[in-house]
Amino acid sequence: MKAAVIHRFGKADVFQYEDVQQPGAGAGELIVRVGACGINRYDLYLRMGAVFTDLAFPHVMGADVAGTVAAVGESVSEWHEGDRVIVTPGYPIDPADWTVMPENQAPSFEVTGTHTWGGNAEYIRVPARFVIRDNTGLPPEEVAAMPLVLMTAVHAVETLGQVRAGNHVLVQAGASGSGQACVQVAKLLGARVATTVGSIDKMETASSAGAELVINYKEQNFAETVLDWTDGVGVDVVIDNVGGSVFEDNLRALRLGGTFVNFGLVGGMKATLNIRDLFFRQHHLVGSFMGSLAEWKRGMGWLAEGKIKACVDRTFPLSDISEAHRYIESRAVRGKVVLIP
Ligand SMILES: NC(=O)c1ccc[n+]([C@@H]2O[C@H](COP(=O)([O-])OP(=O)(O)OC[C@H]3O[C@@H](n4cnc5c(N)ncnc54)[C@H](OP(=O)(O)O)[C@@H]3O)[C@@H](O)[C@H]2O)c1
Repeated sequence: MKAAVIHRFGKADVFQYEDVQQPGAGAGELIVRVGACGINRYDLYLRMGAVFTDLAFPHVMGADVAGTVAAVGESVSEWHEGDRVIVTPGYPIDPADWTVMPENQAPSFEVTGTHTWGGNAEYIRVPARFVIRDNTGLPPEEVAAMPLVLMTAVHAVETLGQVRAGNHVLVQAGASGSGQACVQVAKLLGARVATTVGSIDKMETASSAGAELVINYKEQNFAETVLDWTDGVGVDVVIDNVGGSVFEDNLRALRLGGTFVNFGLVGGMKATLNIRDLFFRQHHLVGSFMGSLAEWKRGMGWLAEGKIKACVDRTFPLSDISEAHRYIESRAVRGKVVLIP
């Protein structure tokens, strides 16, 4: 089969589009023919060697797969060739962890395509228990745009942020893949959502995702704008995928007793926390990584019901994966970039 392979860590040009051995289905496994595979910012970090240094090369990454069952391994009875499926974007890779709940707290839980081969290929091998039926009726590129960001958004916004109807919520980077998913989930839960963007041309994208207030942070200080919007009180919840560069202003925009949920670091890994403000202002600071299978299914159910819209910016042929990674690095992306094998 054809695959986008890396033989070492490197820049976007490190991919080689080449022939590799097609995987066979072992007991309890499926082979899925990849219809489309979404790219996440995580893939860029993984490709650079910034997440793990112990990948076995050659490696094929890619977490977000929509496709059809091509082969069924022994002892799998619920799936058949031709079934449309979506692969779980993260699961415990050690079967010994399959009883740990929630799954994203299992020791071997990881993003799909990290230490196992992912979906940047014509076929992917996956444990049958970690796929769901694709009953969305959407084209594969739309489905493949959403698994990882929806798993993340449901966990961060609903479970950890405990966003409720009427809450004021600030979501960072509202035109990004994860940002748009979080804006949509917060809005679906009945919240009033403010978000940030770094350019005028991203404002429309963020407001179509459901944000009531879209702040171009190049022109306005977002914390002050959010404080004005909430009559000086601050938001109930901040959902942050940017990290260091906005940390202090995020807490400034958060109300007394509010909850701050972080799951990203595009704007830097380090931040300064004023301990005095932390306890005086009684903030809850929460870290979020991916989500459980149940949270993921809930998000994908909303996609199937049309309550959440897929946010595809562009598709690229799998053979142009280097260009697709460079496009994401350019920061011009609005939503998701998806590869078609
Ligand atoms: N922990 C988890 O479970 C999880 C899940 C999904 C994503 N993430 C993390 O969340 C972050 C965003 O992911 P994503 O896939 O949504 O990314 P993305 O679609 O590539 O968007 C990132 C956006 O962040 C904004 N940004 C702000 N400061 C930036 C900077 N210094 N450099 C680059 N971009 C900057 C940019 O929007 P503007 O131009 O509008 O500022 C950019 O478009 C990443 O750190 C990713 O690893 C974590």
